[in-house]
Parts: sequence; C-alpha cells; structure tokens
Amino acid sequence: MTIKRVGILTGGGDCPGLNAAIRAVVRRLDKDGVKALGILGGWKGLMNMAAMELTLNSVSGILVKGGTIIGTSRTNPFKDKDGPEIVKRNFGNFNLDGLIAIGGEDTLGVAAKLFKEGMPIVGVPKTIDNDLWGTDITIGFDTAVTIATEAIDRLHTTAESHNRVIIVEVMGRHAGWIAVEAGLAGGADAILIPEVPFKVSDVANLILRRHNRGKNFSIIVVSEGAKIQTETGEPMEILRDTELDEFGHVQLGGIGEMLRVKLKEATGFTARVTILGYIQRGGEPTAFDRILATRLGVKGAEMVLSGKFGNMAAICDNKITSTPLSELLGKVRTVDLDLYKIAEVFFG
Ligand code: F6P
Repeated sequence: MTIKRVGILTGGGDCPGLNAAIRAVVRRLDKDGVKALGILGGWKGLMNMAAMELTLNSVSGILVKGGTIIGTSRTNPFKDKDGPEIVKRNFGNFNLDGLIAIGGEDTLGVAAKLFKEGMPIVGVPKTIDNDLWGTDITIGFDTAVTIATEAIDRLHTTAESHNRVIIVEVMGRHAGWIAVEAGLAGGADAILIPEVPFKVSDVANLILRRHNRGKNFSIIVVSEGAKIQTETGEPMEILRDTELDEFGHVQLGGIGEMLRVKLKEATGFTARVTILGYIQRGGEPTAFDRILATRLGVKGAEMVLSGKFGNMAAICDNKITSTPLSELLGKVRTVDLDLYKIAEVFFG
C-alpha cells in the first residue's frame, strides 16, 4: 500500500517535547513526499473532524516550544458506543493512509484497540510521569525532572534560612519517577512514592534523626500518588477530586498538606508545602527531550512508511526500537527499586 497522507495526534496531558516530535514526523514524511494532517485535540479531533494541514512551514520554529500546536484532550472514543466507528469513518473521510498517536497509556491504549479493529496506527511515547511500559523513557520526563530539581534547589535555600521542613509535592500518578530522580538530583532528605507506602512515624523519625545531628531543615519530596500506610487498612492515596475523567482517573493531590499536619503533630517542627503542579508540564523542553522527541518522531514516521503498524516507537538501552502496542495494555512501568534504594542512602 502506498502511503500518501498521514494523520498525527497528541492525546492526554501535554508535555514539553510534543512539538519537537510533531516536527520530526512532518520533516521525515516530507522526505518521502508524504503529506501530514494534524488532528486537533487528540481523539476528539477524529470524533468531530477537526484538523489542520501540517507543512514544513507550519512546523518551522516549533522545536523549542512547549505544549502542542495541534492541541490535546483526554477524550476516550471508547466511552461512546459509536465512538470507534465514528473515528474509523472520519479517518477514511480525511483520506488518511496511517495515523501516528503521540501519547501515554490512555492514548496508546485507545490506539492499541483501534489497531485491533483494523486501523493502521503507530504510537510515539510521551508522559512526564515516565510510567509507560515498553520504553525506557518517555518524552517530557527529563524536562519535568529538570524543573522539579531546580525547584528543590531553590526551596533548599529558604528551608535552610528558616530552619524549616519543606515538603515538595510533584506529579506522578502511579509511579514516582519524577520524585525519585528530582529528589536524588536535589539532595532530598526523604522521597515518598506510590510504589512504597510510607508510615508518617517513619518519616518523622528520619527528620528527627537529621535534626539530632544538627541539621535544622529538611526537604521532603512526595509524589502526588504516594500512599500512606494506615495502621489497620490498605495504603491510602489522597484525592483532590473524586470526579473521574473519561479514562476513569481521579484527580490526585493533597498528600503534601496531609503530611505537613501529621509531621507537625509527630515532631513539633514547622513545615511548609509547595505543590509544583502544572509548572512541571509547561515551557521549553530540555535538549535531552528535544533529541529524544526527534528520534522517536523520525522512528514513528519510518514505521508508518514501512507499514509497521500496531507498534510504538521506543528507546531500550539507548537504542531506537519498537514495542507492540498490545503489550502496553494494563501495564505500568513503576520505579526501579534499586534506584530507590540508592536514594534511601541519603534519607534522614
Ligand atoms: O500526564 C500525566 C499527569 O501530568 C499526571 O502526573 C497528573 O496526575 C495528571 O496528568 C493530571 O491530569 P490533568 O491534566 O487532567 O489535570
């Protein structure tokens, strides 16, 4: 089958590096004379036929820009009983020969299901959380770690001046990659992640030990999805809002504030909380993310050109490779516990 026109969409939470990936796809397709169509707002654009032509001109200058020029959403076509049929029909109406979906577990989960239903789709991995199965790293993660590290560095000086405990809440719904890497880089005194439920008394003891050896300030980095181990029941995560998005996710957040109150009770120390939030997803990508997005975007385009549908471009051992989309379904790439053990050396 000759490939003449390829659709590109970005779905889920945005992140720095998406534009670099879009540019790479368009530039690589153009080398083979293939046209690119940007689907607007993720899967939503295929539900309601919203798109824009992507040319060498329209992707010029976007390598360094954060966000995504084609927009994104958390629309799930499988939420609507006619959704998958509408998407397939509109794919035909747009005259597309292939589709590149740039996304995380939700967007690529939809891609895997649509591929099973006959659509020629390729995936490109992105998420600041870095929790996607089948690749060693995702677009956006390095920038998020860089931003969180800079924040920790800045919080250090104010914590030290005031003899305070500062709790930094970072993103990471199911996996604590940002917390572990930024915490390691920023010299955190405790790092709390979803993979390892924690007891407040253990964190209090770490802080007390530090203070007993003359350190009057501490930095604690906590993932939004970190879980408190209660004395009796299941580990508990803290929700900001119970409303579910179209993929069934609640909004997490508030663990930092809960920890502040409980640590004050347990130690008597004054603590403050900083929630980094969406700052971690905004602004320019790092050089690493620009290069990663470019490598993965070129690979995604080449997979479409060679008809390697049903796969995601991936990085394993710093080599570009591919992983079947079907392997991603229902899996989460959690923090390497050997790395967490290294971080633990510096706790307390
Ligand atoms: O994309 C991943 C992520 O940034 C998570 O770290 C966070 O929990 C979630 O998205 C926030 O989602 P939303 O953009 O829908 O508020």
